[in-house]
Amino acid sequence: VAKKRADYQPADFEIEHVKLAFYLDETRTKVRAISTISRRVKHANTLVLDGVDLTLLSLNIDGEPYHDYLQTDAGLQINIDADNFELCIDTQINPEQNSSLEGLYKSAGTYCTQCEAEGFRKITYFLDRPDNLATYDVYIEAEQAAFPYLLSNGNPTGQGELENGKHWVSWSDPYKKPSYLFALVAGDFDLLEDSFSTLSGREVKLQLFVDKGNAAKGEHALASLKKAMAWDEQVYGLEYDLDIYMVVAVDFFNMGAMENKGLNVFNSKFVLADDLSATDEDYFNIESVIAHEYFHNWTGNRVTCRDWFQLSLKEGLTVFRDQQFSSDMASAAINRINNVKVIREHQFAEDASPMSHPIRPDEVMEMNNFYTVTVYNKGAEVISMLHKMLGQTGFRAGMDLYFERHDGQAVTCDDFVNAMADANQKNLNLFKRWYAQSGTPEVFADYLFDEQNQILTLSVKQVNAPTADQSYKQALSIPLDIEVLDSTGTPLPLFSGQQTSAVLTLEQQQQSWSFHCANQPAALCLLRDFSAPVKLHLSQTDEQLKLIMLNASDAFSRFDAWHQLLNRYINQTLESEHPQQGLPQKALCSIKNVLAEVLNDDKIDLALKAEMLCVPSFETMAQLNSQIDVEALLAIKQGLEHFLATELVESWFYHYQNNQTAAYEYNQQQVAKRRMHNVCLNYLLIADAAKYAEQAKQQYLSADNMSDTLGVLKACQDNHVALFDELMADFEQRWQHDALVMDKWFALQAGAFRSDILSRIELLKEHSGFSLRNPNRTRALIGTFAFYNTQAMHHIDGSGYKWLTEQLILLDKINPQVAARIVTPMLQFKRYDAIRQPLIKHQLMRLANQPDLSTDLYEKVSKALNI
Ligand code: ARG
Ligand code: ZN
Repeated sequence: VAKKRADYQPADFEIEHVKLAFYLDETRTKVRAISTISRRVKHANTLVLDGVDLTLLSLNIDGEPYHDYLQTDAGLQINIDADNFELCIDTQINPEQNSSLEGLYKSAGTYCTQCEAEGFRKITYFLDRPDNLATYDVYIEAEQAAFPYLLSNGNPTGQGELENGKHWVSWSDPYKKPSYLFALVAGDFDLLEDSFSTLSGREVKLQLFVDKGNAAKGEHALASLKKAMAWDEQVYGLEYDLDIYMVVAVDFFNMGAMENKGLNVFNSKFVLADDLSATDEDYFNIESVIAHEYFHNWTGNRVTCRDWFQLSLKEGLTVFRDQQFSSDMASAAINRINNVKVIREHQFAEDASPMSHPIRPDEVMEMNNFYTVTVYNKGAEVISMLHKMLGQTGFRAGMDLYFERHDGQAVTCDDFVNAMADANQKNLNLFKRWYAQSGTPEVFADYLFDEQNQILTLSVKQVNAPTADQSYKQALSIPLDIEVLDSTGTPLPLFSGQQTSAVLTLEQQQQSWSFHCANQPAALCLLRDFSAPVKLHLSQTDEQLKLIMLNASDAFSRFDAWHQLLNRYINQTLESEHPQQGLPQKALCSIKNVLAEVLNDDKIDLALKAEMLCVPSFETMAQLNSQIDVEALLAIKQGLEHFLATELVESWFYHYQNNQTAAYEYNQQQVAKRRMHNVCLNYLLIADAAKYAEQAKQQYLSADNMSDTLGVLKACQDNHVALFDELMADFEQRWQHDALVMDKWFALQAGAFRSDILSRIELLKEHSGFSLRNPNRTRALIGTFAFYNTQAMHHIDGSGYKWLTEQLILLDKINPQVAARIVTPMLQFKRYDAIRQPLIKHQLMRLANQPDLSTDLYEKVSKALNI
């Protein structure tokens, strides 16, 4: 059954303080929880505690055994008259058997926890809801030899040795927190230490725990942490608040990382890096995820969510903050383009799917299903719109007021917007609709220029179509950041001042603006910097788009103009009689001519150039239409790549040679060069695999970094099977000891477009390195197939759907959270053709009919099938 946002009720009782004691054991861990409880509501006489998969050993109240309670699947109902009392519960849990990776579990040799969203109830009976804020004292006991480090939140308060080779450590967290921020880790690690002195001069000890032998791979993460700490002080005046900040890297983790107070737990993928084993993208992601979790200390921990429907309160805001940070650390332009790609490829797709939901959902069956691109990334876009409307100074004033009002509280998205509104004396009530309404707005724009009076009139209308979850839609408040170019590509002054750009906010269904414009406009950029998460329609000629591409002041607008130009040709083909023949010769030539100009334009920043030279992904092209024509999109993409590769082969070779990097360093210049280098290599192999194979192999053999190594493997993945197989065998030999690199190997295998792919994947499942219990490995093999191997996954004979479904049935028993992620490509079955639709639907029905299907999968499958 679904829970509704509208049904929120404060709890009848409150747990203000809890003492936890853990006696760690592989299969029989004992947990004692002593909760200090008080009644908040006079008439309530049943205390309802959450608890799942727990063995209850004993229950005492105020020191006496107590029997007036009922045990259910979801927890305990305790009948009680006292208003203030101490509840002591002993439970037993089995970490070894916990393959859901929620609650207390073992990741290889390490004990660790994941409590967000509702995992604490798998540890003990509790008020497992984010609005119960308590202080925690924790005692941990375990074997000393195997688990020398025993960690929890807050500050260490004591430690000692016991008989039988055991030892104990105790911790105390002075900050009140919800149960989802609790953490415990026990294991043996290499420890990297550093320190940070805060703005006000306090010394904070920094500790990073990684698997033995991996210390050198933690340096980048630790350096990133210090950058994030300094940035948050400079930009938001926010300091760290405990004496110690710990980060632990584990190999088995469902998501990216977790911001537990003072003790972050990370997927090792977002911690470990060195030049030979990590790509530029890995380095970037580590810095960004380390910052994200650090920023949560204020936006999430000091101020947390009242209930889980408010998840975007902390996630949208924290993603916005980590994106701001990344833009300050690296290329702001490329960063913005990549963020927009996530919205267009994945978030727009989610809006168009049966799982469509607003950034603040109204109904949830399984909370884990709502850690989505909508809540996170569209949530960040909503914050970004506020930032755009208020400016950094106004936004900062709103943040300051938010903390002044709500530090130490569990609050709602409305509380956040109210702080922004009050600090800026603005009415943001209309803006709040972004939190309530799902779907992708479509914006249609048009303009006229009155030459005599130099008046530009811009008319805009918005269309908000119904989505799977909501039929009634309202007009939204949509900021449009505009710039007008003259025929030389120079931005024109607007509003009779010197200013050449402005943010206009569309607040009605339809609106128009008339303003002074110094000269005849030649082209308009209307959605500079992607100022709102919408689909914009403004008809411009090829010449106008080219003008923007080569001249706009904003990098996103340039990149976007190129895609619009391409989309025009792609759409024409999709609407033609034989879309499966791909783009016609004339279109191919026009596109090639534009790209040749880009290629030879020295003014364009190299990173942006490399980005523009890539043909859009299948996912991007799939957004052009509500229906997905698999064969046509593949033909268009492959045909275009092949044409560009062969026609411009000399240029690719020239730029390939000209963008070699010296000894590896992770810096923006080198990152751009490597990207360009590998984009060119890919085209070379498409143009003539035999001719350039030697070049590719040479690069593979001499690479001193993983980006160049993977560049070769990706380039021959679909273009030179023999070389691919040869290098992949070598790669496996070289890297079999490194789990994160082997994930890349599995993903490369699973993503290859080849006719024998299904039987190869079956073999890979038998590989000694494969396990469905390891989420990174499962996502690498099964996830890559499902999301990115379009040819095989969507094979017209249905074999891809059938195979994926068989894997999901197995995986659901082991780790429902991961299974529910990987089912995503099948949920949108209605967007496929008449042959594929019933094939996918049949597999979804098969899932729906599984006995004991998890709520995770059930929620998604039942929505897709509308049952
Ligand atoms: N709060 C974490 C983050 O965004 C994500 C935790 C997600 N956990 C989950 N079970 N869905 O940094
Ligand atoms: Zn987060």
